[in-house]
Amino acid sequence: MPFVRNCWYVALWSEDLHSGAIENRIILSEPVVFYRDQQGQPVALFDICPHRFAPLSKGRLLPGGGIACGYHGLEFGADGTCIRNPHGDRIPNRAQVKRYPLVEQDSLIWIWMGDQTPDPALIPRYDFLDPVNGYTVTSRETLTMPCDYRLIVDNLLDLSHINFLHDGILGHADAPRADISVTTGDRWVEVTRISRNLPVPALFAMLLNDGSERGDLWNTIRWDLAGCLKNDALVCPVGADRNDGDGIFGAHLLTPVTEETTLYHIAAARQKTARAGSETSEEVRQRLGELRRFAFEMQDQPMIAAQAEIMRKYPEATHHPVFLEIDTGPAQAQAIIKRHIAAENSPA
Ligand code: FES
Ligand SMILES: [Fe+2]
Repeated sequence: MPFVRNCWYVALWSEDLHSGAIENRIILSEPVVFYRDQQGQPVALFDICPHRFAPLSKGRLLPGGGIACGYHGLEFGADGTCIRNPHGDRIPNRAQVKRYPLVEQDSLIWIWMGDQTPDPALIPRYDFLDPVNGYTVTSRETLTMPCDYRLIVDNLLDLSHINFLHDGILGHADAPRADISVTTGDRWVEVTRISRNLPVPALFAMLLNDGSERGDLWNTIRWDLAGCLKNDALVCPVGADRNDGDGIFGAHLLTPVTEETTLYHIAAARQKTARAGSETSEEVRQRLGELRRFAFEMQDQPMIAAQAEIMRKYPEATHHPVFLEIDTGPAQAQAIIKRHIAAENSPA
């Protein structure tokens, strides 16, 4: 399996788990049921009833914060233990389901799929998404991508593609050269690209709204094991300091469903909500969301889907990719993923 288990993944946007509702997801090829208990805290349990394997997500919530199987009525507490067998007095030992650790933070519900003790400090922060911080945030979207999550990590850590695939919207095909720097840690990679003196791409022109025709594009993308990416993209006047720019923070949160499908959670926030003369209207918020959705859904998704299909069909022809200057960041991330998978699967 190409999955790192001992790390945090986004299970759901907080706003997608309503009180009294039951949601289900496949995460790392495991079915998981989600709901909120009486205090509103999110709960995640293995979504297979140990009796006859009905999905608990087809059951009903109990007043005490548990869930009852919809087939023969076994009742489970929020910790996954069976608390009632309506057919007799005995509760069999094996009548229990796994409970997954969750943390709700920055308008996201994070899940830990591994066996090691979860460390909430490892969850990367996306504080620009938290409503209390006052940023103008686009709608929170969830796209289904027909590919291995690692192809999307490659896509995002090599932002040179914005100049070609997103020509005019996020970058410019006649300005592909950039100063690139890459820094790494045990569980993260950060790539910064600076493209000098290029025509201001449409998304940034809309935010700047000052008629600037050319600018410097600063783009930093940070990846945290295994599917968390945060983008800080801004344009500033040619030759100016980065702090003089304006742009967006982007959240790109990948949750592997299977080896061939990935849930892609995206949202962006306006960086300088109160910049003098900047536009922060609802119209701009919506337009920003639409432009980004267009870029990811109409440009990235078909390209990555086509790439994934070719790699599936022609494994030998695609075994050994050509390496360019732009590939250092993605290669570092893939090496970290490989190392963690190997460590998790090596005998203790
Ligand atoms: S399948 Fe759940 S109680 Fe029978
Ligand atoms: Fe892209």
